[in-house]
Amino acid sequence: MGDDRPIGVFDSGFGGLTVARALIDLLPSEQLVYVGDTARYPYGPRSAEEVRAFAREIVARLVDVDDVKMVVVACNTAASVALDELRATTGVPVVGVIEPGLRAAARATRNGRVGVIGTTGTVASGAYANAARRLRVVAEVTCAACPGFVEFVERGETSSDQVHVLAERLLSPLRREGVDTLLLGCTHYPFLARTIADVMGRDVVLVSSADETAFDTRLILESTGLGAAPRPAPEHRFLSSGDVGWFVEMGRRLLGPELERAEAVHFRAAPPPAAESR
Ligand code: DGL
Repeated sequence: MGDDRPIGVFDSGFGGLTVARALIDLLPSEQLVYVGDTARYPYGPRSAEEVRAFAREIVARLVDVDDVKMVVVACNTAASVALDELRATTGVPVVGVIEPGLRAAARATRNGRVGVIGTTGTVASGAYANAARRLRVVAEVTCAACPGFVEFVERGETSSDQVHVLAERLLSPLRREGVDTLLLGCTHYPFLARTIADVMGRDVVLVSSADETAFDTRLILESTGLGAAPRPAPEHRFLSSGDVGWFVEMGRRLLGPELERAEAVHFRAAPPPAAESR
């Protein structure tokens, strides 16, 4: 006997599919319902209150309509500002990407200096510094916002001279700090890994939170008895609040063949964020 209800996963767009990929690989009997809030994307430059309202709405939909047994917040910006509230108000377990990523980075460091990069919203929230205190991370954690990185990934420009120049500028404080481990605290940054590694140097270990989040999810399923019974071919569903065709096209490249089609989902409309970089 197992719990056959799906796991709900959401992100502001398709970047959280890196977490979905890790979940599918680690938990092959589980079904996922993934929501990409592409209509209100990006979250990075939005206010904390606005992102919290979006997260609330998406989780309510996942729990009430899709009957999910737990929720994975696969967006650093949303996890930064909404995780505590979601945990307190949602009747199912909620996992974010912040703590799993930070734990992995703290394990990886050899000199005790960890860097974290994320959107302006994530870094301004102080979520990583708070999590470091909560987890009693002994390493010194230095955070840096990287406005502009997400736009480069969106344009498919992951190793151009321009992104390299921007990375040199944004990462220089972390290089000065002498970090030997860098946590990619944004769903999009793994796609810039080569450029970031080039700039940081060969000795700096890059950590992405996707795998660690999947491990945390497995731990919760095991400890709560919510794991699914073994089954050969679980069916995953993908929901997009914006252009569904675009979501499938982009998403398939990131996730792989499991993303054959997507469904439309509608949330309250929101104006685009101010045109500043995120
Ligand atoms: N998903 C966001 C994050 O991980 C990046 C994209 C956005 O700004 O919405 O922070």
